[in-house]
Amino acid sequence: MKTTFLYKSDPARGRLWAEVFRRRAPHIDFRIWPDIGDPSQVRFLAAWEPPDDLATRFPNLKVLFSSGAGVDQFDFTALPAELPVVRMVEPGIVRGMVEYVTHAVLGLHRDMPQYRRQQQEGLWKPLPVRTARERRVGVLGLGSLGQAVLEQLVALGFDCAGWSRSRHEVAGVQCHAGVGELPTFLARTDILVCLLPLTESTRGFLDARLFSQLPEGAGLVHVGRGPQLVDADLLAALESGRIGDAVLDVTDPEPLPREHAFWRHPRVQLTPHIASMTQPLSAAEVVLDNIERFEAGEPMLGLVDRARGY
Ligand code: GLV
Repeated sequence: MKTTFLYKSDPARGRLWAEVFRRRAPHIDFRIWPDIGDPSQVRFLAAWEPPDDLATRFPNLKVLFSSGAGVDQFDFTALPAELPVVRMVEPGIVRGMVEYVTHAVLGLHRDMPQYRRQQQEGLWKPLPVRTARERRVGVLGLGSLGQAVLEQLVALGFDCAGWSRSRHEVAGVQCHAGVGELPTFLARTDILVCLLPLTESTRGFLDARLFSQLPEGAGLVHVGRGPQLVDADLLAALESGRIGDAVLDVTDPEPLPREHAFWRHPRVQLTPHIASMTQPLSAAEVVLDNIERFEAGEPMLGLVDRARGY
């Protein structure tokens, strides 16, 4: 039986995936949604939002690949229980995130939001210059993105710590694990970066209680998922000065309604969920590597643990 790989995401990017498949796996019939061909031949599907009735529509589907890093957009209850689901872990998306977070952290570290405000007031006023060594950065989430970001921040000389639910080790980084170690991690964090996956336990994670454990005037860089942030609590923390400045790439909903306070808040910098994006050429290579692993009966990289939710 012929094998179809069905791609259901942005078609222009899909055409770049197709080039890689044509070159490296000409035996696979690569198709871009809605041109699905014979549905019984679809063994692999890459999607941001999979179609409904997946199991009945594609009875021979073997693997579902997320076309992005997150899988929180999938309704796991609607997917066949045994279907392996794979997150997008590819070098392009990792590099994009490293660039965005490094830019945001350096900006906060060197007081760029404050200089921007001073410029608008016509105020020429140097602030004390601190070195990276004197700035404590903390990253929530130590998956492949969190670890890559930390590697770069360590290389720049920042005093780095990380926190995740389970124990991790990252060279040059003080790693904390579990809710019990969260207060110690927060108390030593001048700039907090959120790179957590969205799960039931991270929904509303960035709230007043968490902010109250940070040092006065801490910076926030949020590149996780919008629903992890309690907007009203951030506004209150900005008001009280607990949080000095916030850089937000994700919101809930996206886009934010026009009247939302974040749009015009002088201490909030908003970007429209562009921190990082799957790069089609490297993504297709990584997916083909995973298909080879799957066919050889080896574990695929980025396989989702459904009980954990990421
Ligand atoms: C973007 O947020 C992604 O999950 O790739």
